[in-house]
Amino acid sequence: MKIHYFSGEPWEEAYVRERLPNDDISFHEGPFSKYTDLTDPAAEVLCTFIESRIDDAEMARFPALKLIATRSTGFDHIDLAAAKARGVSVVTVPFYGENTVAEFAFALLLALSRRIIDADERVRAGTFSPIGLRGFDLAGKTIGIIGTGHIGVHVIRMAQGFGMKVIAFDAYPNADLSHALDFKYLTLPELLGAADIITLHVPYNPHTHHLINTENVVSIKKGAYLINTARGAVVETGAVVDALKNGILAGAALDVLEEEDKLKEEAMLLTMPHPNADAVKTVLEDHYLINHPRVIVTPHLAFNTTEAIERILDTTIDNIKQFSAGSPKNVVSGDTGA
Ligand code: NAI
Repeated sequence: MKIHYFSGEPWEEAYVRERLPNDDISFHEGPFSKYTDLTDPAAEVLCTFIESRIDDAEMARFPALKLIATRSTGFDHIDLAAAKARGVSVVTVPFYGENTVAEFAFALLLALSRRIIDADERVRAGTFSPIGLRGFDLAGKTIGIIGTGHIGVHVIRMAQGFGMKVIAFDAYPNADLSHALDFKYLTLPELLGAADIITLHVPYNPHTHHLINTENVVSIKKGAYLINTARGAVVETGAVVDALKNGILAGAALDVLEEEDKLKEEAMLLTMPHPNADAVKTVLEDHYLINHPRVIVTPHLAFNTTEAIERILDTTIDNIKQFSAGSPKNVVSGDTGA
C-alpha cells in the first residue's frame, strides 16, 4: 500500500520499514498539518498523530485514501462522518498506555500534593529551604475518577495503593468492576461535591464536551484539585479560571488544554482573516492557567514513555497489515458514542 507517515521520530523510519517491507512508505518530518500543499492521487494510507486535524478537506487531497491509522487512543482529531462518507476507515490504538497514562496522572497529583515543581525551582534558584512548601497527604483523601475505562481502572488501583478512598462517575457504570475493586459509583454532581481530587479519564466527544463547565464547577468541593490527562475540551477552560480565582479549586494539573493545537501556532491565529473569537479567548485562558502559580501544565505528555511508544508502533503496524489483509482491527465506528 502507498502510505504517508507523519510526526515520527527519526528512529521510527527504520523500525516501521523493517516491519512493513512490502509497502511504499513516505516519511515526513513533523505533523501532517505542516504539509498543507501535499496531495497524492495514489496514497491509500495516512498514518498520523493527534496534533493534526484531518477533516474532509484534508481527505480530499488523497482521492485514493482508504485508511487513516492514528497512532493514538483518542480519535477526536479526525472527522469520522467525513471519513465514513468517503469510505475511509479509521483505526486507532486502543490499549497501549493505560498504566502509562495512569502513572502520569499520579505523577501530576504527587507534584501538586508535595509542591515538587516549586521546590525544585527554589533549590535551583539557590535557596535550600522547605519553608512555605508544606504539602498534603494522599492517604485518607477521596479521589473522584471520571471515566472508569482502561486508564481509569489503573488510576483506581494506584489510588487504593496510596490509601485513598475511591468514588467514580461513568456514563456506563460497571457493577462488577465496582464490586471487584471496592469503589462506589456516584452521579457527576455527587462526585464533584465529595472528591478532594477529581481526575478525568473519558474520551472527548459531543457528550463529554465541557463535561466540567461553568454551571457545575460551583458544585466542586471547596479546595479540591483537578487533574486532566484526557482531552482539553472535556473541561470549559473559563470555568477552571473562575474556580481558581474564587477558591473552589486549590490547584490543577493539566496535561491537555482546550485549543492546545493553537498554542503551537499562535502567530497563525493573529494573521487569520477571521480568527474565531472563542478560540482566541480560550488561548488567552490557557495562558492564564500556564502562568498560574497553583497550576501545573505539561505538553500532552502522559502517553510518552519508551514502552508505550513501542506498543503504539507495534499496534499501528499490525493495524495496517490487518487492513491490507482484508481483516481490519481496531476500527473506529462512524458513531463516536457516549
Ligand atoms: P476507555 O474508552 O477505555 O474508557 C473511557 C471511559 O469513559 C469508559 O468507561 C466510558 O464508559 C466512559 N465514558 C464515555 N463517555 C462518557 C460520558 N459522557 N460520561 C462519563 N463517562 C463516559 O478509554 P481510555 O483508554 O481509558 O482513555 C480515556 C481517554 O484518555 C482517551 O479517550 C484519550 O482521550 C485520553 N488519553 C490521553 C492521553 C494523553 O497522552 N494525555 C493518552 C491516552 C489517552
